[in-house]
Amino acid sequence: MRGRDLLSISDLTPEELDYLIRSALAMKRDGSRPVLEGQTIAMLFEKPSLRTRVSFEVGMKQLGGTAIYLSQAEVGLGQREPVQDVARVLSRYVAGIVVRTYAQQSLVDLAAAADKPVVNALSDDEHPCQALADLLTVREKKGRVDGVRIAFIGDGNNVAASLSLACALGGAEFVIASPPGYGLPEAIVDAARASARDSGGAIEQVVSPEDAVKGADVVYTDVWTSMGQEAAWLERQEAFQGYQVDEALMKLAKPDAIFMHDLPAHRGEETIDSVIESPQSVVFDQAENRLHAQKALLAALMADEAAS
Ligand code: CP
Ligand code: NVA
Repeated sequence: MRGRDLLSISDLTPEELDYLIRSALAMKRDGSRPVLEGQTIAMLFEKPSLRTRVSFEVGMKQLGGTAIYLSQAEVGLGQREPVQDVARVLSRYVAGIVVRTYAQQSLVDLAAAADKPVVNALSDDEHPCQALADLLTVREKKGRVDGVRIAFIGDGNNVAASLSLACALGGAEFVIASPPGYGLPEAIVDAARASARDSGGAIEQVVSPEDAVKGADVVYTDVWTSMGQEAAWLERQEAFQGYQVDEALMKLAKPDAIFMHDLPAHRGEETIDSVIESPQSVVFDQAENRLHAQKALLAALMADEAAS
């Protein structure tokens, strides 16, 4: 994977996804070696972040390298100068470029002009680093990914898109319950179905949250209004009524089902305190796994040797 970009989780083969999960598990268990000593990544963020920013910065440090955080106010991606020029300049200084942006096309343009790996740290379309940590968490908690049934309740957004594609690669069953008009984009469903055919996984779209969680090993939700959609908050609040993951919905899943959320959570909207704080909730282990999954990714893209 050395030198490659990660713009979508579907840039990975099933074998690469499995390798990253195993490598993250090994680093989490045994620690890591400083395989990125002397290397720097640039982190270009157009949207706020807690987990992604801190886990990339700490991850680079643990691998012996450094990260430089650059906000949109500083860089003015596409405003102060063209995306292509930013990519070409950064490529002269750093070993990798981690980008949180709105349009997926900005990532495509950056990657085309950069000589160094470009990693999608969340766009309007996808959140592949989150999906890596999500499957790492499923593997830890359920002992496997293939055959696990994951019910996603809510918006067919960036997190849902990457998770559905990752499940398809890993042979998991992904079922999403969304109100009409808020499901996954058709192109994502088609791509996920195509790769699920090879892996033995499955992708299902339903309207009823109750139908989705039946027999689920994992119940997953995310915010109803993503970053950049703030103007549609009220309309979305109304559209997602009935889609809150509460204790009654959790009871319909398997008795040993876990609750996952990428965070930040909007308590009282897509879920509630008592679910986040319940013994079934693994949301903080999941957040921790961002660090381990991204260390595995950074080492795979940028290191000469294995990190554990
Ligand atoms: N889950 C996630 O990406 O969190 P941040 O937006 O805080 O990075
Ligand atoms: N779907 C959310 C995820 C935040 C990590 C958003 O894009 O705002």
